Amino acid sequence: MPARVDWPGLSSEVALATIGVIAGDGVGPEVVREGLAILEDVAGLDGPRPELVEFDLGGERYLKTGEILPESALADLRRCDAIYLGAVGHPGVPPGILEQGILLHLRFAFRQCINLRPIRLFPGVETPIRGKGPDDVDMVVVRENNEDLYVGAGGWTYRGTPDEVAIQTSINTRAGVERCLRYAFDLAAGRGEGRPFPGLSPADREAGKVGLVTMVAKTNVLTYAHDLWMRAFTEVSLDYPAIKADYNHVDACCMRMVTAPEKYDVIATTNMFGDIITDLGAVLQGGMGLAASGNINPDRTAPSMFEPVHGSAPDIAGRGVANPIAAILSLGMMLDHLGGPRGASAVRGAVAAVLAKGTPRTPDLGGTATTAEVGRAVRRALEDQSP
Ligand code: NAI
Ligand code: MG
Repeated sequence: MPARVDWPGLSSEVALATIGVIAGDGVGPEVVREGLAILEDVAGLDGPRPELVEFDLGGERYLKTGEILPESALADLRRCDAIYLGAVGHPGVPPGILEQGILLHLRFAFRQCINLRPIRLFPGVETPIRGKGPDDVDMVVVRENNEDLYVGAGGWTYRGTPDEVAIQTSINTRAGVERCLRYAFDLAAGRGEGRPFPGLSPADREAGKVGLVTMVAKTNVLTYAHDLWMRAFTEVSLDYPAIKADYNHVDACCMRMVTAPEKYDVIATTNMFGDIITDLGAVLQGGMGLAASGNINPDRTAPSMFEPVHGSAPDIAGRGVANPIAAILSLGMMLDHLGGPRGASAVRGAVAAVLAKGTPRTPDLGGTATTAEVGRAVRRALEDQSP
């Protein structure tokens, strides 16, 4: 569904999409710059015409003014059709202030209740998992993004004393869990088209199954919260008879993602477990420099936000060597969300072409190229694709 924006004075035929850009800290601005250059190239292909609004948020602003996410910025961001974010996190700012104050705040305020993280190994990229290739590593993690331990429910008593007690509560609502699970099943139903169905055995396919959702939780220990998850999963799965429903404990999932990644198609999981297993997923697909994500508001009552999974990478920031591909693939996800499937698949195709060629590559993938050189190569590959 294309994003619809009503602009006074413009004919209704011209669809515009306002994109809020938060370049943020560290390598954030370096990788976002490459993404935006590519956006300019693909904007004409289909979907709405993007209009950028830049937001100066992050560590530098906080250190200068004490401001994290002013109310006015939140209101302006709410009016955008989508948000493109680099990364936040600054070595001069205590951990949590920016990450919670900007990233988590936006995810909650804009009801981005789904965190979508594709894990796909592109041909030409090496995975540390021996004997596994692109056919084996192709899954999507649907992470619940508005509940669980990340709500910030908790407190201390006797803080800083030997008697200290700290409590952090995992919140799980039936509505939130069900929304996450339905999103995963809908995704699995659409994902099978035109490609082999990962994770399904020949017997599954024989039985007419076209996709697989694996719920990942810890029902054997978290017997209240994950009992709710399991009951919701069982009920929702009945509405999707063509999709195979499977369950893994999270510890077993960590093992299986390494030993048998081909067994996964769509994974639906909690906020905390999704956070953790997608770092493992990033390694499977070749590293943090390649892992993309979207924080989705499925009801479109507020903007969704697209960002590389990685952080601000202070260890390499300012040297122009960060891999821009995670940010570029996140841009592709944003185009899909805004109703520009041709632009989105052109971006993915261009990234695939550059990775398959083997060069240029940034140091994280064993090369010597700069961020800008990889960005330029993707743009050239885009040109080569165009008819
Ligand atoms: P990180 O993801 O920034 O870095 C982890 C490792 O991956 C580092 O060795 C880094 O050099 C490498 N790396 C990350 N992105 C890369 C890229 N594009 N190309 C090549 N190598 C890359 O995670 P870290 O070091 O734990 O956190 C740094 C800061 O970022 C902290 O302040 C943290 O809180 C914040 N953070 C922010 C996130 C966000 O904005 N979404 C997510 C994760 C962390
Ligand atoms: Mg994480």
